[in-house]
Amino acid sequence: MPAGLLTSREAQQTGRVIYMANCEICHGVKGDGRGQRREGMNPPPADLMAPPWSDKSGAPRMYAVIQNGVRGSAMPSWPMLSDQQIWDIVAYLHSLNSP
Ligand code: HEC
Repeated sequence: MPAGLLTSREAQQTGRVIYMANCEICHGVKGDGRGQRREGMNPPPADLMAPPWSDKSGAPRMYAVIQNGVRGSAMPSWPMLSDQQIWDIVAYLHSLNSP
């Protein structure tokens, strides 16, 4: 994880834009899993504001999950996002957790 990433305002703000464009539809504006598309999804979109995702120590795992997706669920992999873009999303989601 790039040093200082989780508290970088720049990373958080870029991450917000990427999140809103790609993730909000399922995970919701607040990251709580209540996006418009969630109806009927099994499993439903994860609540990213709850443990383990709300925990800073889970940041590397969150990165890996975003990169790889979750097999057997609606959560896709994101080969089109760069390493930096994925870290920016992680920084944004953690800023929502600890304002
Ligand atoms: C089409 C709907 C959809 C989109 C778009 C989507 N997700 Fe998900 N996501 C899901 C679902 C469904 C799960 C639950 C998977 C499970 O519980 O096994 C999930 C789970 C997750 C998890 C937790 C993984 C786990 O092991 O439970 C993270 C972190 C996550 N998503 C982040 C993101 C991010 C960041 C984006 C945008 C780049 C994104 N998701 C876009 C549907 C989506």
